[in-house]
Amino acid sequence: MIIPIASDHAGFEAKEKVKKILEELGHMPVDFGTHSDDSVDYPDFAVQVAEKVDDGEHNKGILICGTGQGMCMTANKYKNVRAALVYDDDSARLSREHNNANIMCLPGRQLDDNQLKKFIATWLDTSFDGGRHERRVNKIHDLTDKN
Ligand code: RB5
Repeated sequence: MIIPIASDHAGFEAKEKVKKILEELGHMPVDFGTHSDDSVDYPDFAVQVAEKVDDGEHNKGILICGTGQGMCMTANKYKNVRAALVYDDDSARLSREHNNANIMCLPGRQLDDNQLKKFIATWLDTSFDGGRHERRVNKIHDLTDKN
């Protein structure tokens, strides 16, 4: 799968690792920056990936900052985006099974290499459960349409 990925300076080091992990898993990361640990503003990079998922060009994306929070908040401004903060294996699995998350936001400064590998593999391998969860996810999108 082609997977757009971006980070700010606080997520830069983790992003470089995540690109290798994705390749090892047989995916093709497309890197939208940032390209160093010089200070930048996370919304400028979140939008690069969020736009690609929002317009359907790509099904899934990955965003990384220090905590994952700012990336998540920014990406969720887009109508068709369901960005989830992934911080352990349960949040990786359940954000797919229950929330059909299409962007994974990672706290780059808080995860070691093994955690990154495990959470990414889980998130990419887990399908949406549908059923009652579909009804709930649709209610999120109804709000986007109304407000
Ligand atoms: C940058 O220092 C930091 O605020 C950012 O990476 C992120 O954690 C914001 O949510």
